Amino acid sequence: MKRSFLSAGRDYSTLHAVWQARIFTSHLRYNQFILVLQGTHLMNTDDWFRLADQCARFLAGHGRVALTPHEMLTQLAASTPPDLQPDMYGSGELITNFEKRVADLLGKEAGVFMPSGTMAQQIALRIWSERKHSPHVAFHPTCHLEIHEQKAYQLLHGLHGVLVGSPYQLMTLDDLQQVRDPLAALLLELPQREIGGQLPSWDELVAITTWAREHDIALQMDGARLWECQPYYQRPYAEIAALFDSVYVSFYKILGGIAGAMLLGPQDFINEARLWQRRHGGNLVQMYPFVLSAQHGLDTRLARIPQYCAKAREIAGILSTFPQVTVMPNPPQTNMMHVFIRADRDRLEEAAAQIARDQKIWLFRYYAPSQIPGHCKVEFTVGDATLEFSTEEIQSLFDRLINAAI
Ligand SMILES: Cc1ncc(COP(=O)(O)O)c(C=O)c1O
Repeated sequence: MKRSFLSAGRDYSTLHAVWQARIFTSHLRYNQFILVLQGTHLMNTDDWFRLADQCARFLAGHGRVALTPHEMLTQLAASTPPDLQPDMYGSGELITNFEKRVADLLGKEAGVFMPSGTMAQQIALRIWSERKHSPHVAFHPTCHLEIHEQKAYQLLHGLHGVLVGSPYQLMTLDDLQQVRDPLAALLLELPQREIGGQLPSWDELVAITTWAREHDIALQMDGARLWECQPYYQRPYAEIAALFDSVYVSFYKILGGIAGAMLLGPQDFINEARLWQRRHGGNLVQMYPFVLSAQHGLDTRLARIPQYCAKAREIAGILSTFPQVTVMPNPPQTNMMHVFIRADRDRLEEAAAQIARDQKIWLFRYYAPSQIPGHCKVEFTVGDATLEFSTEEIQSLFDRLINAAI
């Protein structure tokens, strides 16, 4: 079905301002998530969007757009009891039952639904910092708070971010032991998105979290993609979450909700988080569209995650047969991977555009410059749309892309 980006009510003037600054986010209408890029492109944004609009199939994520607003609201209406009452400033059966459901799933005492993970994690770190009487909070150099939130943790909350380890590798216990600041909290992202969705082994995760506990450092999990980690750890979500004092999860990434996040932890921590949510202007009078879509995502997509992860491994196997391609991590540990392609960026974009024109198949939006000279990087997230492609088809698409670009 053809859908128009221009009818989506997005703020294009803001988009252009961001474009001019050459700092791009990729999840306007795409379930392919954020990737920070710099540099020039062959086509302007509108041309890319127009081209995407003409495509019938999408290789990554759940497709170009999960659902139009009309489709989304119709789907939600169909599964919503007619007498269900809206939430009101965070209270009401719908939102409180959902908070309890996720808290039970993650083995936490309580949870609070929030409009965004950005808000949830700043609040979590603020609370841990006050409780531990230290402004120092540690995270990986590619942490969302560091590279995507305009230093809000510092400007709004007076926190000091301590970057631990290399931006190109997972943080290790050894990296952490080098830190000299007395830390209030350690935030660990599972999986680490900006390095292809890598995960520490279970033993390393236990070692890091045990060390943090022994040093009275609160543990916050950035679980934006926690749902995708379960097949790798082969443990219940609650067992993974038990390593952390507080956890944030997202409902709009692999689960495909409209937006929304939840912060979970001990009851007193969540009570305090609600105060901060109010201070942030984040306990909206009604959030039921977000809650209903989050609930729907859990009901429908959580069970498919092992399938997405298995497909990612299968795809990595195919891509590894191309001498111009390096997959990271290989094999993928979740449903995502970063794919480095030895080819000229402009030629890759042009080749992808040609495939979109001829075959009506949309591959990737961004072919980012990478740290490996002569290579571009794409983020490949496997979702519902990817499952529709056979192995052979993916192989022939990459064959065409690469041969046209080198
Ligand atoms: C790893 C990670 N943490 C936090 C966030 C913040 O989520 P939100 O967009 O709900 O603010 C994101 C969003 O992309 C993310 O990828």
